[in-house]
Amino acid sequence: MLRYRFRDGVNVRSDQSRSDVVVETPYATRLNSIRQCVSLGHPDDFLKTLLARLSQQGVERSHCSGFQASPGFDSVDPGVDAALDDFYARGLLITEISGLKGCAICLNPLRPSLRQRFAPEAFCRIKFSKFVRIDPCRDGLEISTPAASGSLLLSDQRLFPLLMVLVSPCTEESIRQSLPEDLLIHCADLMSLLLTSGVAGVCDDHGVADIDQTAVESGWTEQDLAFHCHTRNHTIDLCRSERSPTVFINRQLPAKHQRIVLETVALPGPSRINHSLSFFQVIRDRQTVRVYQEQPITAGLLSDFLWHSMHIREEILCDPGLSRSYQGLLRPVAGSGALHSIELYLCVHRCAGLQPGFYHYDSSGHSLGKLSGLSEPCLGMLELAAASTCRAPQAASVSPGQGQQPDVLVVMAARYARHAALHHQTGLSYALILKDVGSIYQQLYLVATALGLAPCGLSFGSSELFEQASGLPSDLECSVGEFMIGNPA
Ligand SMILES: Cc1cc2nc3c(=O)[nH]c(=O)nc-3n(C[C@H](O)[C@H](O)[C@H](O)COP(=O)(O)O)c2cc1C
Repeated sequence: MLRYRFRDGVNVRSDQSRSDVVVETPYATRLNSIRQCVSLGHPDDFLKTLLARLSQQGVERSHCSGFQASPGFDSVDPGVDAALDDFYARGLLITEISGLKGCAICLNPLRPSLRQRFAPEAFCRIKFSKFVRIDPCRDGLEISTPAASGSLLLSDQRLFPLLMVLVSPCTEESIRQSLPEDLLIHCADLMSLLLTSGVAGVCDDHGVADIDQTAVESGWTEQDLAFHCHTRNHTIDLCRSERSPTVFINRQLPAKHQRIVLETVALPGPSRINHSLSFFQVIRDRQTVRVYQEQPITAGLLSDFLWHSMHIREEILCDPGLSRSYQGLLRPVAGSGALHSIELYLCVHRCAGLQPGFYHYDSSGHSLGKLSGLSEPCLGMLELAAASTCRAPQAASVSPGQGQQPDVLVVMAARYARHAALHHQTGLSYALILKDVGSIYQQLYLVATALGLAPCGLSFGSSELFEQASGLPSDLECSVGEFMIGNPA
């Protein structure tokens, strides 16, 4: 039997003042958490019965051709039929296929738009999307992909062999062979659910599912696509975010980060040297420099570099008056939500006027807190930096590993909990942290150029080495970016 019913989060209420019926959907947008609604003006009795039944036991529908005659639907009303199609397309209906053991599989829409697809010609082959994921849940196995408009819930264990069949391109016949007797009549419906949900697609001659075509051609990896969809989707499913259990304790970390240090090294205040370059000259001159001279950079220049990039100008209260108000910071560089959860650590390889070692930049006191000498993990980070330095992508030979170690390696570490305190619900914490890293890279590039230093952003870094060097678990503070500076040759 194939049955439709409203998915969770759909509520039907009447608007007495206008004799309308309002269908409240579970969907909202990231910026506006008010549920989207569909208003049905002056519904007739057929429509009222349909709404009642969709909210309770559901309604049966023969393969996409109007209602089956059943109590309450002795005759088919085209208006009711159109309403059902409309609810389906708006992602409000669960479609269930049941057999002798109850509900076998159901399609749960996840977005406010769902395009129904039907079983293709018998000779066509279908298979799972390359991006499919299968998660165990209370009622069975949930099958989904990051970009799909729906997920499938497989609750009848007799259908589990189907999972293996769909790993490779398969015809309707091979799907039929994996179905139990009582579900054979629903083979076409089942294929329709697989295709409509977006977890499977029709294959081309190379065995690529049509739904994956553009993502595969563009080289998307599973991880990147999942991260992208998770952080860039505009519409949200309120029920899904409520359902995911959270033990997150909203612990607001102080904006200023104090570390226990071996010693504090005061840095000189900002100097006036070499500040004659105009802003536009700095922009014109900015380039990556990876070759350093014998003479290292000085503590004075390092001090200027840190001051003009990251020192704390002001502490502020953000969102004052709201329950979520929090401490923010203002720095020369911009930071999302003024959270500034990124701290700078320095692997000082060589610097005139400063001992080699591993330091934390106290951006409030404008000083360096020494955490250790140049320990093994610090040397490892410097080696990794040199190893990931190319001669420049535009050079005839880009062979990495030929690079010099920088005078100072700047490691950016994020205090994830500061972003999570504000963005746990939106799920944007890590995406915003990475954007902040990009903003800091550019600031470091421009300030280094203005000061006549050699700047180079890096793509590679090791969270493990940073964890060992800093002595902090990476879920508390994790390295998210690296930047080299030195005295240009
Ligand atoms: C996010 C980012 C990552 C980078 N990664 C590396 C790297 O791993 N190794 C390297 O030698 N250069 C790296 N660079 C520097 C680029 O190669 C450089 O910006 C690019 O070749 C353009 O040259 P230009 O900076 O002189 O304009 C990186 C730059 C950025 C912004």
